[in-house]
Amino acid sequence: MAKPKSQFVCQSCGSVHAKWQGRCDGCGEWNTLAEEEIAQAAPGGLSAKRGKRGRGLEFVDLAGQADREPRRVSGIAEFDRVCGGGLVEASAVLVGGDPGIGKSTLALQAAAALSMREGTSCAYISGEEAIDQVRLRARRLGLANSQVQLAAATNVRDIAAALDSADAPDVVVVDSIQTMYVDNLESAPGTVGQVRAASQELIRLAKARGFTLLLVGHVTKEGLIAGPKVLEHMVDTVLYFEGERGHQFRILRAVKNRYGATDEIGVFEMTDGGLVEVANPSALFLAERNGQVSGASVFAGMEGTRPVLVEIQALVSASPLATPRRAVVGWDGNRLSMVLAVLEARCGLLLAGKDIYLNVAGGLRVGEPAADLAVAAALVSAAYDRPVPEDTVIFGEIGLSGEIRAVGQSEQRLKEAAKLGFERAWTPPRRGGKAKAPPGPDGLGLEELSHLEELVA
Ligand code: TYD
Ligand code: MG
Repeated sequence: MAKPKSQFVCQSCGSVHAKWQGRCDGCGEWNTLAEEEIAQAAPGGLSAKRGKRGRGLEFVDLAGQADREPRRVSGIAEFDRVCGGGLVEASAVLVGGDPGIGKSTLALQAAAALSMREGTSCAYISGEEAIDQVRLRARRLGLANSQVQLAAATNVRDIAAALDSADAPDVVVVDSIQTMYVDNLESAPGTVGQVRAASQELIRLAKARGFTLLLVGHVTKEGLIAGPKVLEHMVDTVLYFEGERGHQFRILRAVKNRYGATDEIGVFEMTDGGLVEVANPSALFLAERNGQVSGASVFAGMEGTRPVLVEIQALVSASPLATPRRAVVGWDGNRLSMVLAVLEARCGLLLAGKDIYLNVAGGLRVGEPAADLAVAAALVSAAYDRPVPEDTVIFGEIGLSGEIRAVGQSEQRLKEAAKLGFERAWTPPRRGGKAKAPPGPDGLGLEELSHLEELVA
């Protein structure tokens, strides 16, 4: 039988199909299959080239010392922390995010900051904007005098020719990977095949020449890096740049990091002069709180190593619909359903027939189960129209029987709350629980709740 010349590759998840079909079996997306040429026959096993011997490997001691400081620190603290303490030499970092969220701005600012450091040279290769446009942006950002080397290119062969030398720059930004193409592939730029081939080539160069590669990539609505989820496996670090349109906050989040923790976030504010670091996000997220209103509570959360206080807002209203609405922004919808079910089943709160809206103010996305209690407090407060005391922070996880469970790092959460002037905290009981809770750090009054009913009461 003749070998097929082409295959159908899903542009969303990268799975390969022999025939065209409307829906990808891999990820369930519709109309994402595109025909691509099969690049080459797969190489045979080692035995196919009998008689040819590989070069022997040279093993070295694991305990050996690296010659130089392997991290390149930009001085933008929010960026460095998310990278795990600076960019690692000879590594590839993917910065993903929605179009227009500020990826190019971040990449340019980071490159400029890095090039200020002694002995660090940076190149910025733009496939989306012309050189003059990048210059214009740099002038707006106040970076007109930085030492970053600019180029506009989309052909990976040209880029490779420029970078494949011993004096390649230390940091190379490629904006964006979707505009890059490898000229011996037939498919259009932005397809899975092209993105994969282009990144493979660039990453190989980064490893060989020891520069840090910063790839910018667009994301589809589903939250995947457009097309190539595959790209996530190829790079060392994946950072997502996210935020609500219309909000000025932007959050840089590490979702994969071979050289650091993945739960770190960096908070920025988008201003006329570019991205500005937000060193104290809690103050920012709580800045628009307007006093004692029902349906709001303050959650003392942790984002990575840093405590972050956010306001959680709930609205409960009678629903005209047969199936009431449940809308959540910034939290997990399934978790909301669970908290509602526990409130109904264990505390007798009647919420059926009510529309329920939940919002994490400021555009932050909270992923911690520790927010359960704060969410429940906001819901109960909205349902009874009774405000939660203004000077109180809340955290704790809720179990299915309504019990409130301990969460990690409570000391740090309480310290942050005290720093911001809160006076009381509703917390889970400590292990071994004594009758009366001692005051928390800085005289914070602790009220330990062991069951959700105590909250409702
Ligand atoms: P950009 O970095 O081009 O986004 P991306 O590369 O992710 O597509 O950012 C574009 C948005 O940022 C645009 O809506 C305008 C806004 N912006 C500012 O508000 N201030 C600035 O100084 C800059 C450069 C951009
Ligand atoms: Mg851009």
